[in-house]
Amino acid sequence: MEMKFSWLLLGLPAVWMLAAAADVPAARGPGCSARCGEMDVPYPYGLDPQCAIHDGFVLNCTTVGRATKLFHGGLEVIKISVPDGKAWVKTWISRQCYDQTTNGMLYNNAQLWLGNQYVLSADDNKVIVIGCKSLAYMWSDSYIIGCSSTCDIKALKNSSCSGADGDGCCQADLPKGVKKYISYFNVDYNTSQIWQSTPCNYIAVMETAAFNFSTTYLTSTVFYDMDNSLIPTVLEWGVARNTCGQARTNKTTYACVSNNSDCIDNNYVGYRCKCSPGYKGNPYVSDGCTDIDECQDNVTYPCAGICKNTQGHFTCSCPPGQDRINGLCVKAHKSIWVAPVVGGSVGLVVLLIVATCAYLIRERRKLHRIKQKYFRQHGGLILFEEMKSQQGTAFKIFSEEELQQATHRFDEHWVIGHGGHGKVYKGVLKTEVEVAVKRCMTIDEQHKKEFGKEMLILSQINHKNIVKILGCCLEVEVPMLVYEFIPNGTLFDLIHGNHGRHISLGTRLRIACESSEALAYLHSCASPPILHGDVKSTNILLDGDYTAKVSDFGASILAPSDKSQFVTLVQGTCGYLDPEYMQTCQLTDKSDVYSFGVVLLELLTRKKALNLEGPEHEKSLSMRFLSVMKENKLEDILDDQIKSNENLEYLEEIAELARQCLDMSGVNRPSMMEVADNLGRLRKVMQHPWAHENSEELDNLLGESSMSMVSSAVTTEAFSIEKRVAMGLESGR
Ligand SMILES: *[C@@H]1O[C@H](CO)[C@@H](O)[C@H](O)[C@H]1NC(C)=O
Ligand SMILES: *[C@@H]1O[C@H](CO)[C@@H](O)[C@H](O)[C@H]1NC(C)=O
Ligand SMILES: *[C@@H]1O[C@H](CO)[C@@H](O)[C@H](O)[C@H]1NC(C)=O
Ligand SMILES: *[C@@H]1O[C@H](CO)[C@@H](O)[C@H](O)[C@H]1NC(C)=O
Ligand SMILES: *[C@@H]1O[C@H](CO)[C@@H](O)[C@H](O)[C@H]1NC(C)=O
Ligand SMILES: *[C@@H]1O[C@H](CO)[C@@H](O)[C@H](O)[C@H]1NC(C)=O
Ligand SMILES: *[C@@H]1O[C@H](CO)[C@@H](O)[C@H](O)[C@H]1NC(C)=O
Repeated sequence: MEMKFSWLLLGLPAVWMLAAAADVPAARGPGCSARCGEMDVPYPYGLDPQCAIHDGFVLNCTTVGRATKLFHGGLEVIKISVPDGKAWVKTWISRQCYDQTTNGMLYNNAQLWLGNQYVLSADDNKVIVIGCKSLAYMWSDSYIIGCSSTCDIKALKNSSCSGADGDGCCQADLPKGVKKYISYFNVDYNTSQIWQSTPCNYIAVMETAAFNFSTTYLTSTVFYDMDNSLIPTVLEWGVARNTCGQARTNKTTYACVSNNSDCIDNNYVGYRCKCSPGYKGNPYVSDGCTDIDECQDNVTYPCAGICKNTQGHFTCSCPPGQDRINGLCVKAHKSIWVAPVVGGSVGLVVLLIVATCAYLIRERRKLHRIKQKYFRQHGGLILFEEMKSQQGTAFKIFSEEELQQATHRFDEHWVIGHGGHGKVYKGVLKTEVEVAVKRCMTIDEQHKKEFGKEMLILSQINHKNIVKILGCCLEVEVPMLVYEFIPNGTLFDLIHGNHGRHISLGTRLRIACESSEALAYLHSCASPPILHGDVKSTNILLDGDYTAKVSDFGASILAPSDKSQFVTLVQGTCGYLDPEYMQTCQLTDKSDVYSFGVVLLELLTRKKALNLEGPEHEKSLSMRFLSVMKENKLEDILDDQIKSNENLEYLEEIAELARQCLDMSGVNRPSMMEVADNLGRLRKVMQHPWAHENSEELDNLLGESSMSMVSSAVTTEAFSIEKRVAMGLESGR
């Protein structure tokens, strides 16, 4: 790892950082509107501190050459939208080019680091990779997202970046909440063989609408040179780092000062303001939101008749003596015409009702057909047949309505976890059983076809330390999974949470032992073997009595029987990713062993797997651990809570096991079964009296600590659920 990625950690250009916003905006005078060159600078932004809502919103207007440009920190701002709470900035393209003089590859890797008031917009940006032999990623706190692109001269088309084989370009969705990233290239995919036709590979995180692929991007350097290696990127911003509920309690600092304005929460950047429907203008300025005169705009608000504007609304009526028929005003004929007109309109109404019903029925049928199509596509029929033949399994196929009902139509308040793959909602079924519903964002084609088959295999897994799959829903585009609900949060929360509880070595060892048994079961006892693919402390849940339950087979793929099967999209969690997997793109059972090694370290040290804020050599927990092991200074890194003389022997053994799991080469790592055996043995030794002289005391201690865990579990249960909701952000790691 050190060798292969050294260029990544050293050869980086400067970090572009946006100024951090103050936590609470101080009250300032009314915003002064300003201009910079051709651009408006609307409040809450301003060109000097008196005009901006707070220091995080002060922009620089600078003349560069002939142009006047707006800057925030080191980033050029090209557009600001107050109604949408978005800002367009220019960020950097990263490239990997063949260099004739050195006969090697040259790298320009961009790195972006946004202040706490900004987040990359997941809806407006994409990760785009261009090249004929390229595999590139953007690496954020909790995600590695990227794709691989190849070229087939005949398939190359302008404006086409579908990621299909040979397209020369691919793109991946950006998850929500990304605030910083580093771009990097897999060194084994490079242009050293094809530099004469394709000198460079590129990766850019940029506004989707601003990208239009051209085949000339491959054959020349025009993509990079077009705007000095800059591309537009869309950011979402928030005005202060708290929620609307919190912000409203202090009238002096609440930013939505205009009458007729609303407050909008954004989990990642705090709140922002918006004019209420029917109003437009600037919600941050008092009386900034003014009524929209709908009658002036008969295209958006059509009105045949007399249009009358009111506050926030408008009315559309017919002049006296006219009636509205079919949306138009026509003269009311009171004489002999009345009967036919009335009769006619009654007939018309009846006709309309019949037509509407017919339409609704057709739509319903269409919806039903779509649902059936998805159901078939995901292998629902095979699953259904199999389920019928195996009576007695508790696995259930849910309908979309059932899950919508259970989760209050996927209400954001019911989200209990985010991940690279999607969101997890808490739900309550009609039978009052609590469940966790996992709703993924996308699914790849290969997986789609085999989904039913995979479900069948997962449904047969029955292990006390694995979260049970209760069922799935196939009649939607991306299938949803239904798991049993585990109340006590994640291992991540237990280790890194702010609860001040002491967690004894015995408890930690038990959790480690239970999780390793679960993984060993998946690797060795399931048929075919199942790889987890995303082992981390947020994927180990804790039951009512703090029993470990391994969850989230979202990233898991059944172990391919054909060893040459490659996945082109590497996804996992930084800090836990097997370096070998990043190089070969091939997930093996030893990748899970590596990730589990990192979980062991977390248990030993109570430090996070990746700490981007820390100094360079302390960023990755596994690297730091390996270096202290080499220097024989294990004690420096151990958690104070468990560092004691009587524990030392066990701690050293666990550390040695972790070191083996973290071996750079997969073949040298122990199997999960061996890891589980080792941990089980250690646990027995620790519990068994003959190992210690004052055994009784030790036993009592252990017994006591586990008792107090149980009682605290009972009193904090309600709190834990709340906390998981509040910490939804956290558990994405
Ligand atoms: C504005 O520019 C000045 C001088 O170039 C710099 O010192 C300052 O940090 C910049 N401020 C912001 C908010 O970018
Ligand atoms: C380019 O990739 C090949 C494998 O495809 C590898 O052998 C070679 O070392 C790489 N070259 C550089 C300069 O990284
Ligand atoms: C794509 O457009 C460029 C000019 O923008 C042109 O030179 C190139 O030949 C086009 N490629 C294809 C495959 O049509
Ligand atoms: C992309 O560029 C092509 C020309 O190369 C043009 O015909 C097409 O309209 C452009 N598409 C967009 C969305 O700008
Ligand atoms: C509101 O915020 C201001 C400025 O931060 C502070 O001085 C004041 O005490 C706050 N008021 C309340 C009621 O919290
Ligand atoms: C804004 O609302 C407040 C209270 O609702 C009201 O007293 C005030 O007159 C309003 N201001 C304007 C300009 O409508
Ligand atoms: C919309 O308003 C314009 C001028 O106010 C008028 O010329 C036009 O006919 C109107 N269109 C409709 C559909 O009423």
